[in-house]
Amino acid sequence: MRSSRSFSLRQNALIASMVLPAILLVVASVAQEQAPEKPLTAKEKFKNIKVLKNLPADDLIPVMRKWNAALGVKCDFCHVINPDHTGFDKDDKPQKGAARKMVQMTMDINKRHKVVEKKVTCNTCHKGHAEPEN
Ligand code: HEC
Ligand code: HEC
Repeated sequence: MRSSRSFSLRQNALIASMVLPAILLVVASVAQEQAPEKPLTAKEKFKNIKVLKNLPADDLIPVMRKWNAALGVKCDFCHVINPDHTGFDKDDKPQKGAARKMVQMTMDINKRHKVVEKKVTCNTCHKGHAEPEN
């Protein structure tokens, strides 16, 4: 009787040692899935972000396309683009620096004039031209 009881104890312990980790694993993976997924910011995803830091990373290229349209230019107006489509992180064109200052200025205007109904964007001044016509 005694030996069979100790056997079943050992068996229980064995089962527990196999089942518990499995349960913990499931609980852990569920907890991980439920943790809200915070989208990466541009600063976290790209190499050289100084003004668009809090922009969601997925919005960076759409913003770049808007700048193209607002200024009537292509990406290479501000970027030296390598044949393998890299180099966007480099600061080798003055236009890129100018654009950073413009972003800062545009954000400042919008901060100071919260009451203005329409937000100021690059297009407010540029209207499709790199040099705004007054
Ligand atoms: C008017 C200037 C301008 C134009 C036009 C422009 N960019 Fe940019 N781009 C910038 C600036 C400025 C930054 C850095 C932003 C910052 O510092 O927050 C940047 C950053 C980037 C980055 C991040 C690089 C890194 O790793 O740090 C990518 C990628 C990029 N641009 C792609 C593009 C593409 C693609 C286009 C065309 C669809 C484009 N850009 C057009 C000014 C421009
Ligand atoms: C309040 C008006 C205004 C707004 C808003 C504005 N700009 Fe400008 N921008 C100008 C003026 C005026 C110039 C030309 C004089 C100068 O370079 O300071 C200029 C020049 C530039 C240049 C240099 C052009 C060249 O030929 O070298 C770039 C690049 C530029 N802006 C990008 C932007 C971007 C990107 C935005 C939006 C984030 C923006 N600007 C928003 C008025 C504006």
